[in-house]
Amino acid sequence: MNTIQNSLKLIIPSHSENEGLARLAVSGFLASAGADVSTIAELKTAVSEGVTNAIVHGYRGSYGNVTLEIKLFKSGRVKITIADKGRGIEDIERAMEPLFTTAPEEERAGLGFAIMESFCDKLRVKSSVGKGTRLTMEKYIKNGSQG
Ligand SMILES: Nc1ncnc2c1ncn2[C@@H]1O[C@H](COP(=O)(O)OP(=O)(O)OP(=O)(O)O)[C@@H](O)[C@H]1O
Ligand SMILES: [Mg+2]
Repeated sequence: MNTIQNSLKLIIPSHSENEGLARLAVSGFLASAGADVSTIAELKTAVSEGVTNAIVHGYRGSYGNVTLEIKLFKSGRVKITIADKGRGIEDIERAMEPLFTTAPEEERAGLGFAIMESFCDKLRVKSSVGKGTRLTMEKYIKNGSQG
């Protein structure tokens, strides 16, 4: 169940254009794993929200690397981690509430976490102020190879 079938690690600097690279990497990886179109669209959107958060909130006023890792297990489980070494989140529970945002002046809706949660089977958030944030998303892909 925990045998890894394929994996990918991408380290990208926190330029806003690189959110597109992360999306492409996820969709390419999942397409080659045989995931169906809606699963690819959902995980692409979830990753896009997570990477955008790392860039715009984590590295607000600074720069750094965002690490995206995807692992596909033989069971069809996909585990995605997105990590930054940015400012961190003070109150994770509050940050995850729908419509909560610390950047309303940028017309952010505060819906990124809600979107990630709705498109994944499981979402875990670890964060420490001044050190960074790590998201872990898990989902079963319908057409993953069995065994
Ligand atoms: N990687 C991160 N580093 C630091 N703070 C974060 C990070 N990710 C999220 N946050 C905090 O959590 C809040 C909620 O995030 P969420 O993605 O739900 O909404 P948003 O980014 O503010 O708005 P939207 O995603 O709708 O554009 C953010 O406003 C920010 O304060
Ligand atoms: Mg967001």
